[in-house]
Amino acid sequence: LLLLMCSIANSHTGKGQESMEKLIRQNAFERDRFYYDEFPENFGWGTATAAYQIEGGWNAAGKGESVWDDFTHRMPCWFLRNQTGDVTCDSYHKFDDDLAIIKELGLSHYRFSISWSRIFPDGKNTSGPLPDGVRYYNEVINKLLAANVEPMVTLFHWDLPQALQDEFGGFNSSEVVPHFLNYADFCFRTFGDRVKYWFTFNEPYSYCMLGHGLGVSAPGKCVDWLNLSNNFGDRGEGVYYAAHSIIKSHAQAYHIYNNTYRQTQQGQIGITLNTNWVEPSEATDLDHIEASQRSLAFSTGWFAEPIFNSGDYPDVMRWNVGNRSEYYNVNPDRLPKFTKKEKELNKATSDFFGLNHYTSNLIVPCSYYPVDGPTYDSDQVSLSSEKGIFAFLTHKGLSIQWPGSASSWLYQVPWGIRKLLIWIKRTYGDPVVYITENGISEHDYDGLEDDIRVNYYKDYIDEVLKAINEDDVKVKGYTAWSLMDNFEWAEGYSERFGLHWVNFTDPERPRIPKKSASYYKSLAESG
Ligand code: BGC
Repeated sequence: LLLLMCSIANSHTGKGQESMEKLIRQNAFERDRFYYDEFPENFGWGTATAAYQIEGGWNAAGKGESVWDDFTHRMPCWFLRNQTGDVTCDSYHKFDDDLAIIKELGLSHYRFSISWSRIFPDGKNTSGPLPDGVRYYNEVINKLLAANVEPMVTLFHWDLPQALQDEFGGFNSSEVVPHFLNYADFCFRTFGDRVKYWFTFNEPYSYCMLGHGLGVSAPGKCVDWLNLSNNFGDRGEGVYYAAHSIIKSHAQAYHIYNNTYRQTQQGQIGITLNTNWVEPSEATDLDHIEASQRSLAFSTGWFAEPIFNSGDYPDVMRWNVGNRSEYYNVNPDRLPKFTKKEKELNKATSDFFGLNHYTSNLIVPCSYYPVDGPTYDSDQVSLSSEKGIFAFLTHKGLSIQWPGSASSWLYQVPWGIRKLLIWIKRTYGDPVVYITENGISEHDYDGLEDDIRVNYYKDYIDEVLKAINEDDVKVKGYTAWSLMDNFEWAEGYSERFGLHWVNFTDPERPRIPKKSASYYKSLAESG
C-alpha cells in the first residue's frame, strides 16, 4: 500500500520517499516532538515585504497607477474603513527606518519587490525609466549592501501597471509578456550588478485565483456566480489565461537573465510559488491520497510542473479541465496549450524553488460540489470518477480543530511544512529551496506580546530544521513574513503579520518591535 501511495505522487525515489513513509507511520507525539539541532552554516535568515504593501508614495514623482491603486480607489467599500496602500508604512520615504530594524534583527537577507509602475508608469518602455524610481531602488539596494544584507528582489508582487490592465486586460492577454520582459531586462541591467537573487513572480496562483478567478483582489475579475458589479464573466477561462501569460513571462525572463546577464552578474533567478500542504484525512486511503495529490497538482503543479518538470500543465489538469469543457460544451482551450517550443522553453527555468507557505488543509474526497458549470474550483472535481469522488473539503467541514489566527484561511499546522518540503523534493527533482514567506496574523488590537507568533515561528522553523537534517531537503534560506505590519490586501490593516508593530494613525509610522522580533533576532544570531 505504501508503495502505491508513493507512486501516485509522480515522485522521485530516495530519501524523500523514505521520509514520507516514516511520517505516515508516526503518532502525534512523535510528529510534534521538538527537535534540537543547528541550522547549517551560511543558512540565510531574512524577512520579506512587498512594494504595494509597504511603500506608499502611490503617485510620487510620476509613478503610474497600479491595479492595486485602481482597485482600492475604485472600490473603497470593498476594504475595511476604505483603507488603501496610498501611504501604508511609507517606506518610500522611510526606508532608513526599515534598514534600522533590519540591522537590529541581524539579518543576512532582505526580500522586497520593485513596483513596475514606479519605473515605467504605464508599464511600457516608452513611459520610462523614471529617474526617481531608479534612484529609490538603487538607494535601497546600496544601503542594504552597505549593511551587509543581501537583497532578494521580486519583480512582480501583484502590482501590475494599470495602463496594461486597461489596454490588454492585464495578464489575461499574452500581449503583456513583451512589456514584462522589457521591465525585467531593465531591472537586470540596472540593478543586477548588485542583486544576486531574482524572483520573477510572487505567488502567481494567488494573483490568478484571487484577481482573475474570485475577483476579491486586483484587478478584480470574477466568476459569474458571485455576481459582483465588476463581473468580468470569467467562466473558468481568465484564471487560466492569466497563468499562461505569467508562465511564458517567467520562462522568457529566465532565459534573458541566463543568456545575457548570468555570466557577468553571477546571480540566481527563479520563481516563488505558494502552497498549502493538503493532508489526506485518511492517511492510508488511496482515494483520499489521490484527492490530495489532485489538489496539489491544481495549485502548486499548475506552475511547478511546467517550470520544474515537463514544460506543460499536470496531466490531471488537462484531463479534468478538458472533460468539464466537453461536458458543458464550452471552449476546449480554456486551459491553453503550449507549443512544443514553448514547453522546451518552460523547462528548468528556476534555479531554486521559492516557497511561500502558511498553512495546511485537510481533504476528503466527496460526492457533491456546489458549483455547476466550469470554474477553476469545479474543474478540480472529477466528473468521470467511478467511485463517486467529486470534490474536496477543507478542514472547515470536518471535526479537526487546528489553532487559527486572525486570517480565516490560516491554521497553525507546523508539521505540514515538513511534509510539503518532502513532497517538493520528491516531485520536483530535489531543488534548492528558499522559504520566501512564512508567518502568522493577529488582529490589529493584539499588541506587542505576540506569543502566538513566537510559538508559530518556533514550531514551523523547527519542522524546517527536521526537513533539512532528517529528510535531506536542500533548504538554504528563510525570509519571514513580514518585517513589519503592512497593508494585507483585501483585509486592509486588520490582519497584522509583522515582527514589528506599525502605528498606522501616526504620520511618523513608527516601527516598534514585538516579542517575536527579539525571538527571531536570537534565531538569526545563533544560526
Ligand atoms: C503574499 C503576501 C501576503 C501574505 C499573507 C502571501 O500570500 O505573498 O503578500 O501578505 O501571503 O497573506
